Amino acid sequence: MKPGKYNRRKFLGSISAGSAGGLLINTIAPFSSVNAQTKSLPFDQESNSDYFFAPGLTYLNTGTLGPCRRETIQESKNAWEELESLPVKFYGKWGAESLAERTRTIAARFLGCNMDEILITTSTTNGMNAIAQGLRLKAGDRILTTDQEHGGGLLCWEYFARYYGVTIDTISIPPGENNAASILNRINEGIRNGTRLISISHIFSSTGLRMPIAEISSLARSKGILCIVDGAQAVGAVKVNLKESGCHAYATSGHKWLMGPKGTGLLYLSKDVQDIIRPMQFEESYNTYNNSNGVVNLACILGLGKAIEYIESIGIARIEEHNLSLRNRLYERLTHMTNLTIMSPASGPLASPMLACRIPETIDRTLFVRMLLDKYKISIRPTHKQWFNGIRFSMHIFNTEKEVDFAADILHKELGK
Ligand SMILES: Cc1ncc(COP(=O)(O)O)c(C=O)c1O
Repeated sequence: MKPGKYNRRKFLGSISAGSAGGLLINTIAPFSSVNAQTKSLPFDQESNSDYFFAPGLTYLNTGTLGPCRRETIQESKNAWEELESLPVKFYGKWGAESLAERTRTIAARFLGCNMDEILITTSTTNGMNAIAQGLRLKAGDRILTTDQEHGGGLLCWEYFARYYGVTIDTISIPPGENNAASILNRINEGIRNGTRLISISHIFSSTGLRMPIAEISSLARSKGILCIVDGAQAVGAVKVNLKESGCHAYATSGHKWLMGPKGTGLLYLSKDVQDIIRPMQFEESYNTYNNSNGVVNLACILGLGKAIEYIESIGIARIEEHNLSLRNRLYERLTHMTNLTIMSPASGPLASPMLACRIPETIDRTLFVRMLLDKYKISIRPTHKQWFNGIRFSMHIFNTEKEVDFAADILHKELGK
């Protein structure tokens, strides 16, 4: 079949025929055994019944939002019910204070830092905003970042550029880049008088490129500036050790690769910057419940702790290996296609468990992705238009070789060899 068949007009017809009231998820019906879940190595104990996936769904979209396991939700539900037995238990001294700190302890252990360097947030964006606001930037300060940042890690700086006269300097890391030394050189050249910090993603949302954050942090430290990392796409997907990375601050989400409840996140502030970065909501203390932060969603925060413990029980090194092997398999299957160009690095140190591909301009990427869900029950992500007209696959612990092959077969079928 030819590309172009998903042009907007033709495709809208097929969507309205297939979707109930625009609620795409309603169209997921029990599906054939074509992608039946036989779990390939190494997670024999993993089973689709551990999740709430709709029958037959092939979920290759953790980079957008990860699934919660049943036991994670159960943990949150139990906690929520218990807390509601005396609603004031959500409130500081009645219990909230100490309960939420359990999740901080687990997160610190998992991320290789101290508990008093970890804060609970609601998302990566929330953590990045806290960092930016806590820095008290002023006119003349400069921020160095890249042209591949997600809005969740960029808008906080743009806010200070718009209202406080801060300048943003942007280096380009075009799709196809696969050279860490060259990236480092460009960052080095981008540092100017007045640069206060480098703000970068650990793994780009756009291309899945994994940035050499240890080297960038070390460069930043050698110049006396801060290294701030947006780790939305890294924690739970690949091994992250915050102390080893050397960065000053790191924000991540609970609801992506950690498979925690939606609306949870983690923020790391290294000891040596805690006087420099002072987020308003943690001014009173770093406790999750404190008078400058207010009441939090304790049930979900406890679920996040449970989700991290699950990742720990499997081992993040094994998870990373599994995720990368699926990603590399997909890379191999798609690499020779004429109507699709892989925009992610080849396998190697800059690769991550996400694979992004450009598709022809004649195809509306959003409609194409909806078609894949409607017709084949495959969930993937259309890339943001400002980067390229493309699609992105995320491979995580619950995915199998069979699912990756299924996705590759479908792309061959829909886009042509
Ligand atoms: C690199 C990056 N940063 C930030 C975000 C925003 O994450 P959250 O919704 O948890 O704030 C995303 C989401 O996809 C992302 O990919």
